[in-house]
Amino acid sequence: MNICLIFFSATNNTKTIGEVITREIEKNSRSVNLLLIDITPYSVRNQKVNLKQCEKFIFGFPVYGWRAPSVVREWLKTLEGKGRECAMFFTYGGINSGVVHYDTYQILEENGFKVLSSAEFIASHTYNLGGWNVLENRPNDEDFKIARQYAQSILKKFQESDLHSFQIKPHEYSDKTLKRIENNPKRMVNPPRWAAECDVCGLCDNLCPTNAIDAENQIINEEKCIRCFSCVLNCPESVLEVDDLTRLYKMALKVEHLLEKEINNRKSKIL
Ligand SMILES: Cc1cc2nc3c(=O)[nH]c(=O)nc-3n(C[C@H](O)[C@H](O)[C@H](O)COP(=O)(O)O)c2cc1C
Repeated sequence: MNICLIFFSATNNTKTIGEVITREIEKNSRSVNLLLIDITPYSVRNQKVNLKQCEKFIFGFPVYGWRAPSVVREWLKTLEGKGRECAMFFTYGGINSGVVHYDTYQILEENGFKVLSSAEFIASHTYNLGGWNVLENRPNDEDFKIARQYAQSILKKFQESDLHSFQIKPHEYSDKTLKRIENNPKRMVNPPRWAAECDVCGLCDNLCPTNAIDAENQIINEEKCIRCFSCVLNCPESVLEVDDLTRLYKMALKVEHLLEKEINNRKSKIL
């Protein structure tokens, strides 16, 4: 059986969970061929990815403003499921996974996939790079254990031939509300900037998921930048810096009616 695990991961959390799932599936079945496809780079999403050989799919994405990143959603809409079965998983920074399960489920089903299951994993928040201290050691062993259990349940479903029914309860948020939530990072977080001259290795430019960086001229296109901080994390000279975002953290807690304690008690789960 050929399984393609397709993931987007700007700062490696989703990739880490994807790798745990991959290893567990490979450990449990000799007849599975697992192909990992990283769609984070702009260049990958802008060429036609050949998915003909994939019989089953596992999709893994981070939560950005309660949903999968908009660039991922746009890319998913270009795929043809052709009745093939898939499973989904998400990582999120403990604030709110929002409507990500239903929203992504809908896109996949509308594009001809048969979604069998979903799971969410707790992970360090991207904005720890801007001074937050949220779930810094996650995912941890407990999260990995759930990832391995999820891998086993995905494999079982893929191997069974009987029809599975999996549904996710719809949400009641309007498009307008969801758009506003999704736009918050762009509205409230400035793109990273160069703190000094650099050697122009071009890594930031190559890795940027939205082709927003002109490394040579040290310019980041504010409109294209999705504030994912891939460039900040991966810069070998650590020359890219971001604003102090601690005020934004306090705001997020207030808006979401959250206590810090609740975030720290969050658990990864299979739906
Ligand atoms: C633009 C942006 C929006 C985010 N929105 C949310 C959110 O709505 N809820 C949440 O709990 N975490 C949110 N996060 C945190 C990420 O979901 C979390 O850190 C995730 O594990 C990052 O995955 P990655 O390391 O694979 O890129 C957001 C991060 C970014 C960069």
